[in-house]
Amino acid sequence: MSAVLRERVATGAPLIRMQQLRKVYRKKQAGGRTEEFLAVSDVSMDIHEGDMVSLVGPSGCGKSTLLKILSGLHGHDGGTLQIGGGAGGAPFNAGRDVGMVFQQPVLLKWRTILENVMLPADILGLDRKKARVRAHELLEMVGLTGFADKLPYELSGGMQQRAAIARALIHDPKLVLMDEPFGALDALTREKMNLEMLRIWEETGKTFVVVTHSIQEAVFLGTHCAVLTAGPARMADFFPIDLPAPRRLHLKTSPAFGDYVRRVYDLLGVE
Ligand SMILES: Nc1ncnc2c1ncn2[C@@H]1O[C@H](COP(=O)(O)OP(=O)(O)OP(=O)(O)O)[C@@H](O)[C@H]1O
Ligand SMILES: [Mg+2]
Repeated sequence: MSAVLRERVATGAPLIRMQQLRKVYRKKQAGGRTEEFLAVSDVSMDIHEGDMVSLVGPSGCGKSTLLKILSGLHGHDGGTLQIGGGAGGAPFNAGRDVGMVFQQPVLLKWRTILENVMLPADILGLDRKKARVRAHELLEMVGLTGFADKLPYELSGGMQQRAAIARALIHDPKLVLMDEPFGALDALTREKMNLEMLRIWEETGKTFVVVTHSIQEAVFLGTHCAVLTAGPARMADFFPIDLPAPRRLHLKTSPAFGDYVRRVYDLLGVE
């Protein structure tokens, strides 16, 4: 880990503190009965400013639900969630301070790719001229130069997801939540995007929480790894990943990397 990053793996109050978080989905049934489904049972972790937390767990265990709670899209039904206790002092505002990449790209089909990337800036009323310049930079960063004026249907699934990643960064949020952002990408683009994401993280000091189904990706990206049990989610483990920075692809062949991967496999009960 570099000196800069070591400094960032903070010592002060966490940006996010989850304590025994619980989430129940409720659905009104005919006859006024309410059906309840426990999606998250007991999740606790501290995330500090500048952390890159990878979140892994079996399908359906509650990972997307947790991200939606962190983004303010869903409430929770038990436990406590504190966000915004980090350095800087300004109150945390979910709209302004969170960038979210959903499991699906969810682009607006009538807006061009550029206009989709600019959407959060428009919603927040930011300077359009500056946002346009930044949007072009971000499109270049995610390899979509030349696609700014296309409509979403003219892009492949992986390209749409890359546009969604650019959109999540347009308003320079403090906290970036990513729900399997690279699932639809081919292996090579995925590795390129991993390195790109690490670069953005190192340059900006933003806090990232990334859900991934790839254990190798979780270990490669994370300063910390949160492993959840099968649903309803509980903590299987939460541990720091102390691998040297800057992280480059050859790290994946090192014994230390393999040890972390094995640890996660063991926690998930994969043989
Ligand atoms: N809006 C909802 N209403 C009711 N149940 C829901 C809702 N969203 C999710 N669930 C249920 O909550 C559980 C957790 O769902 P969630 O989408 O958080 O899982 P996940 O860990 O992200 O899974 P995956 O890895 O497959 O994306 C699942 O059993 C799902 O059926
Ligand atoms: Mg999910």
